[in-house]
Amino acid sequence: MALRLTVIGTGYLGATHAACMADLGFEVVGLDVDAGKVARLAAGDLPFYEPGLEPLLRRGLENGRLRFTTSVEEAAEFGDVHFLCVGTPQRAGEYAADLTYVEDAVTALAPLLRRPAIIVGKSTVPVGTAARLAARVAKLAPAGDDVLLAWNPEFLREGYAVQDTERPDRIVVGLPPDPESAERAERALREVYANPLAVGTPFITTDYATSELVKVSANAFLATKISFINAMAEVCEAAHADVTKLSEALSHDDRIGGKFLGPGLGFGGGCLPKDIRAFMARAGELGVDQALTFLREVDEINIRRRIRMVDLARHLLGGSFIGRTVGVLGAAFKPNSDDVRDSPALDVAASIRAQGAKVTVYDPQAMENARRAQPTLEFGSSALDAVRDAHAVLLLTEWREFRDMDPATLAGVVAERKIVDGRNALDPETWRAAGWTYRALGRP
Ligand code: UDX
Repeated sequence: MALRLTVIGTGYLGATHAACMADLGFEVVGLDVDAGKVARLAAGDLPFYEPGLEPLLRRGLENGRLRFTTSVEEAAEFGDVHFLCVGTPQRAGEYAADLTYVEDAVTALAPLLRRPAIIVGKSTVPVGTAARLAARVAKLAPAGDDVLLAWNPEFLREGYAVQDTERPDRIVVGLPPDPESAERAERALREVYANPLAVGTPFITTDYATSELVKVSANAFLATKISFINAMAEVCEAAHADVTKLSEALSHDDRIGGKFLGPGLGFGGGCLPKDIRAFMARAGELGVDQALTFLREVDEINIRRRIRMVDLARHLLGGSFIGRTVGVLGAAFKPNSDDVRDSPALDVAASIRAQGAKVTVYDPQAMENARRAQPTLEFGSSALDAVRDAHAVLLLTEWREFRDMDPATLAGVVAERKIVDGRNALDPETWRAAGWTYRALGRP
């Protein structure tokens, strides 16, 4: 009989995992403590924007393979494999991750496991967490040794969540130290991931600690790559060089590659910033903080991009924001997402507003979240509406819609033809030819 799955925590990661696993043919129950979220999901209403996911959710609900509950008893009774997908946010005022949700989930579930089951952690956690949770499960679960813990980090990107879940580029599984348990857990996970779309996907088995580290080191590497090119952008600006050409030329070296080498306003979102900070905090606890001091620099380069953006805009407006009108295009931390967590775009917009400008923001998907996060900003109903009468336009999230904007159309509504391209997404020649003063990060 096919394994039955539960997904604990139905936020971004969990809702995606649940809907995709049901789409791949499994019976899935999604569990969350938030009754409101459960009700929305059960009604086929995805609480966030993710291309292609809502149809899978609806199909799963309709064909009965997918349901949602707030009852941990029901989930414990139902599942053979329990995926742990709760959040691990940054602790207020600290670098370290808050593990409350992970720990609470295990503490609630384990005492209800009366038959063989496997708990599979997918949340991003500090190294050492899985071993600690395994000891707790062993102590709490009535089924004792028949309940196993494995760690299976998730690498999905927002905006590509369905594709990344159904066709992952690798599957990493941290297994229990005892060989028999390891074999049992591996067998179950191979069965879970034996879908035709993932044929040939590298399946890497290892110990708990390594699997936990794969996730955080992958994110640290990606953040470093972005900050590297943004550090080059700083040098380019000082040397009157062009970082977009530099990046293009570097990308043809296949040892370097072109991905995550896009210079601009830098990284944000619910993962990269908090993950590199939690990683530094954990390295400190392990007594190897020196190994990761470079990540502090990565973080600082990233923050400096936002400051530089504000400075560029102020400069373009003649040295002050007071009494000036600024149109901001983009609020999400990246295109194809409505997520505004640690969004560079919103951060810049709020900072300019705080310095005296009237700021009007438009984003194709993130308006509701942006309004909630920054209620003092003004919001336009379209890109054109947001830049009406603006003394400067700032492109801060590179949605397709903004990349494709016609400089002549925009010129018809702004007060002054001045634009700062925070994502190096526009063609400077086209904009200059249309009479615009064009500025970008890392370009002459
Ligand atoms: C990231 C990881 O990519 C993913 O594997 C992990 O599971 C979660 O964290 P995500 O946060 O969805 O995913 O966004 P990602 O596409 O990685 O972008 C992160 C940030 O980097 C965005 O703000 C984006 O604008 C920025 N970025 C990306 C750049 O500034 N330049 C680039 O070249 C690429």
